[in-house]
Amino acid sequence: MLVIGIESSAHTFGVGICDDGKVIANEKMMFNISDKGLIPGKVAETHVKNAPKTVEIALKAAGIKIGDIEGVGYTRGPGLGPCLQVGELTAKSIAKRLGVKIAQVNHGAAHVEIARSAAKMKDPLALYVSGGNSQILKSSEKPFRHYEIIGETFDIGVGNMIDNFARAAKLNPAWGSTVAKMAQGGKYVRLPYTVKGMDFAFTGLLTSAIKMLDKASKEDVCYSIQETAFSMLCEATERALLLTKSRELCVCGGVAQSSRLREMLGMVAKENSARFGFASNEFNADNGGMIAFLAERMLKAGMDSNISECGVEQRYRIDRARIA
Ligand code: FE2
Repeated sequence: MLVIGIESSAHTFGVGICDDGKVIANEKMMFNISDKGLIPGKVAETHVKNAPKTVEIALKAAGIKIGDIEGVGYTRGPGLGPCLQVGELTAKSIAKRLGVKIAQVNHGAAHVEIARSAAKMKDPLALYVSGGNSQILKSSEKPFRHYEIIGETFDIGVGNMIDNFARAAKLNPAWGSTVAKMAQGGKYVRLPYTVKGMDFAFTGLLTSAIKMLDKASKEDVCYSIQETAFSMLCEATERALLLTKSRELCVCGGVAQSSRLREMLGMVAKENSARFGFASNEFNADNGGMIAFLAERMLKAGMDSNISECGVEQRYRIDRARIA
């Protein structure tokens, strides 16, 4: 089944095309992040401009015509309201024009499912880490197949924490990779570490790291904020591995592109006799391919929606999302 997926939850407008479980096109156009961060209305305006072109490029990359599309999926949430609406309208207009079915996809569930497929895993424990989200997830069949949140951040996502720190330290975008580069020359300075069971919090670490910029070098603070935040994620994930007795661990989401986090989680998995895996960076960054991938499975399982029911939900929690 040829399914087109539209992703627009944050600064990326992504269009992916999936054919029988294989992503055959994954194109995107992005809002250029300035030092002010994401202003939802401005990002949405850029998405409106980019939407038709991105769809066109994706169709070309897949070597198909719009009329070949047999189903549509889009990100219902979570994300920035005005940005999500651009994706919703694009998806609805394609579905209406072609008279094909439409599926409302949870962004986080799509990240986990594409990682699970790439890593060839059956039922992994998943660490989902991005700008706005940081959660430890395990699938559950009751009352329907979904991801249960067994650990999460009490405040902000790890990606936002690193971005906010990098802006305060006047580093260049893309902030996460700039912090990672600076960290290579640093040594450890003490920063707060907050893990409670399988949950964690990042604002205390952020505030202290910003204050620490007056006392220590940027390299040292970059190294220490990254090591502290990732160690917190690893401790909580290790506890979840022990609790669930899972033999598979995957990491997904924007921050899963960090080679240091992957290295640390790989060690945690090894010590607990679990297999570790992740998708390629193309699918850890926001992308339409993963939306098309999950939408295809949902449509095949009869989980489509009436166009009139389709909407967006800024805080669409993963544990309410039914997945196929
Ligand atoms: Fe994402």
